[in-house]
Amino acid sequence: MADDTDRPAVARFHRAALRYGNEPEVLRDVSLDLAAGSFHFLLGPSGAGKTSLLRLLSLALPPSRGCVVVFGRDVVTTARADLAALRRRIGIVFQDFRLLPQLSVYDNVALPLAVSGLDTARIAEDCKLMLARTGLERFAEVRPPSLSGGQQQLVAIARALIIRPRLLIADEPTASVDETLALRLIALFQEVNRLGTTVLIATHNERLADRFPHPRLRLEDGHVLYDPPDGWPPGDGPATPQHDHAATAA
Ligand SMILES: Nc1ncnc2c1ncn2[C@@H]1O[C@H](COP(=O)(O)OP(=O)(O)O)[C@@H](O)[C@H]1O
Ligand SMILES: [Mg+2]
Repeated sequence: MADDTDRPAVARFHRAALRYGNEPEVLRDVSLDLAAGSFHFLLGPSGAGKTSLLRLLSLALPPSRGCVVVFGRDVVTTARADLAALRRRIGIVFQDFRLLPQLSVYDNVALPLAVSGLDTARIAEDCKLMLARTGLERFAEVRPPSLSGGQQQLVAIARALIIRPRLLIADEPTASVDETLALRLIALFQEVNRLGTTVLIATHNERLADRFPHPRLRLEDGHVLYDPPDGWPPGDGPATPQHDHAATAA
């Protein structure tokens, strides 16, 4: 596995906080560093703030305090149009899929490319490859409501991957699938990661994360703790994680 200590950060949070309206802060003091090409799990029980953290990372919301830098740009001071351009490099797999029920699987997966103005021949080629890669070829003309939860999850993943994102964010992607498919989905994310995409997967399923060697970010009490798995980093490298500043958050 690659040592990513020297790579530039895809995202960096410094003491970021988030509140909804006048409610108490759900994220209080989050510092983290996602190196380019890294693969992390984001753990924490339901209600810990995982989805909220992903909203900051995916530029859906600005922090209410502190600093969020994505692809080198501070989200608070970046112009709207530039934020939109940054968002197009991020693939997001939403927990509730957000597929368009009236469109076929093919059209759902092709949509991000169609919006980007790519020509139809190229879209068809990319889309066919992506459907093959996710095992969805035979469902190309089917509409999402007639698919199982696991199949809809695959469509949501295919749609996130079709743009070849630099950063892939998945929110509880294994919540509605059986264990076999869960392992297959993580393997698919690993393959994408090997091709260079930075990956962050939010899950409350500690047992699943335990089966993989990837470092974890753990949300606790509005903070992120860095929680490397046993034997990380692999080999004889130093045991100090690059995120040690984040580990001091509590
Ligand atoms: N859109 C929202 N408006 C108000 N409160 C929210 C909203 N989204 C999440 N929350 C609250 O923020 C806290 C963290 O939620 P969330 O980020 O969804 O956690 P997780 O994904 O770890 O389950 C919860 O108390 C939740 O009720
Ligand atoms: Mg959530």
